[in-house]
Amino acid sequence: MARSKIALIGAGQIGGTLALLAGLKELGDIVLFDIVDGVPQGKALDIAEAAPVEGFDAKLAGASDYSAIAGADVVIVTAGVPRKPGMSRDDLIGINLKVMQAVGEGIKAHAPDAFVICITNPLDAMVWALQKFSGLPKNKIVGMAGVLDSARFRHFLAEEFKVSVEDVTAFVLGGHGDDMVPLVRYSTIAGVPLPDMIKLGWSTQERLDAMVERTRKGGGEIVNLLKTGSAFYAPASSAIAMAESYLRDKRRVLPCAAHLDGQYGIDGLFIGVPVVIGAGGVEKVLEVEFNGDEKAMFEKSVNSVKGLIEACKGVDSTLA
Ligand code: APR
Repeated sequence: MARSKIALIGAGQIGGTLALLAGLKELGDIVLFDIVDGVPQGKALDIAEAAPVEGFDAKLAGASDYSAIAGADVVIVTAGVPRKPGMSRDDLIGINLKVMQAVGEGIKAHAPDAFVICITNPLDAMVWALQKFSGLPKNKIVGMAGVLDSARFRHFLAEEFKVSVEDVTAFVLGGHGDDMVPLVRYSTIAGVPLPDMIKLGWSTQERLDAMVERTRKGGGEIVNLLKTGSAFYAPASSAIAMAESYLRDKRRVLPCAAHLDGQYGIDGLFIGVPVVIGAGGVEKVLEVEFNGDEKAMFEKSVNSVKGLIEACKGVDSTLA
């Protein structure tokens, strides 16, 4: 059977890490695409030269022409600019919206059957715009945010409870902004919900609240440390988990920015919710019940996403 093909649009910090991880996991042949000529070719060659040492088989190619992504099974989009200290994800709209237009047209022309994962920020608005520009079926395009936000929360929880990260599950919904919704009731240590862990005396409510807050600001924490860009290792790992679930038809339940048409009372927006990702793309949305506080947090987050969409429509009237 022919290998799958994975196209990475944007060969920067995340793009390069994606290529290495996809190779290490033998997910398929890899094409790195970037507008900066030389960078995708250089990274592709560098990773291909790591393959004999690591023992993986994959063809790697770099390109600056969209024809190279033809027939891709998965396309992961990181093209655009990342944040610098002092910037919010929303400050990126002007530049990254134009990039989404070029990328959307490239995908439409060369890889219309691919499953597309968008990482470019501000995520919830960029994935919405990319769907409009590409015309892709709405179940074949998702945004990567929830897996990353949940992973950050899981890391903090594992450190706090001094247990393996493998035994921590976390549930983070809503938009990929500072008002995202980490749902503690649905987050567990080996199946025991966090509020019960507090009752058992393993931590305190104050410490849990601080971890929730740190999760919300997790991206900014890294930007402030790096100073020259934003996080790339954990975002790449998160997108690869989503790509793998699609390519291997694992049907993992992963929080993704998915198109909602009525679920959670939302119509026509991409919002972070748990979905089943299998060979059919987004196969099912898992709708959980919210209590009063959770509902209010979710609505606040959704309103922020709506604000971003309005800002996009202001910048590009064809989206209105
Ligand atoms: N088409 C293709 N590639 C582009 C385009 C375009 N129109 N515009 C920019 N790029 C490329 C840049 O040349 C660069 O190599 O996108 C790459 C982005 O890489 P980095 O600047 O290293 O950014 P990275 O850390 O990978 O983050 C990319 O993901 O998390 C988000 O906020 C982050 O929006 C940012 C994106």
